[in-house]
Amino acid sequence: MTRLDLEGVGFVYPDGTRALDGVDLTIGAGESVAIVGQNGSGKSTLVRHFNGLLRPTDGRILHDGEDVADVRTAALAARVGIVFQNPDRQIFAGKVRTEVAFGPKTLGRSATDIEAATRDALAAVGLSDAADANPYDLGYSRRKLLTIASVLAMGTPVVVLDEPTTGQDARGVARVQQVLAGLVADGRTVIAISHDMRFVAGSFSRIVVMGGGRILLDGPPAEVFAEPAWPVLASSYLEPPYAARVGARLALGSTPTETALVEALAARG
Ligand SMILES: Nc1ncnc2c1ncn2[C@@H]1O[C@H](COP(=O)(O)OP(=O)(O)O)[C@@H](O)[C@H]1O
Ligand SMILES: [Mg+2]
Repeated sequence: MTRLDLEGVGFVYPDGTRALDGVDLTIGAGESVAIVGQNGSGKSTLVRHFNGLLRPTDGRILHDGEDVADVRTAALAARVGIVFQNPDRQIFAGKVRTEVAFGPKTLGRSATDIEAATRDALAAVGLSDAADANPYDLGYSRRKLLTIASVLAMGTPVVVLDEPTTGQDARGVARVQQVLAGLVADGRTVIAISHDMRFVAGSFSRIVVMGGGRILLDGPPAEVFAEPAWPVLASSYLEPPYAARVGARLALGSTPTETALVEALAARG
């Protein structure tokens, strides 16, 4: 299992844009963490540092306490799998099963392992029936699920999803939630970027709020969505979930999810 540590990480793009500024972050093995924040706050740039796609301009990245500056990106990709925001920038194969088999193949797995990993990953995202289809004959929602399957098939201890629910219909969102729950149950680390506050409050035990390339808040949903934190959320153009706003209005304390709201109401009697 892999613990991720970022120590004073800064990142400046070649054009001079500073995207990250003094980021300190530790994510332990098996944690489920959501990263939220306005567009341009540095979320995608941050996660690309987890597997060496980007290397920090300042500071260090550690995997299980070891600085990865000299570890090749190919080796880091076996530890941290990233599902990108736009599926069409990730998909390259003409057949669904070939697309999913590519990852485990690059890791040098045996043919039997590749076949099993491909089958299991397609089943996990509900695409078993589409194994022989052309990815571009699938709708957007299913193409996104396909890119999730491609990363699942690699069996990395850390899985990162950039905006997994954006553009998904309700069934797709439910499927993504099910996949995340399965990963967490397996003890894998799950990190997701999302704009959907209801989804993050219900599916993650920790929420990191970013703004201007920095971490503004970091804590469990009940803390990050509690009323005192609302001005900080607003500074990154975020609104607490509806359940949190209703709970605060009724003076029930912090109720980030509908379940928490119902429980608080029942407890009050
Ligand atoms: N390839 C790039 N070149 C230059 N600037 C970039 C590039 N990608 C992102 N940026 C800039 O870096 C900042 C952070 O972007 P990004 O990490 O994509 O934020 P988010 O994922 O939170 O929307 C923004 O100011 C964005 O415009
Ligand atoms: Mg992004």
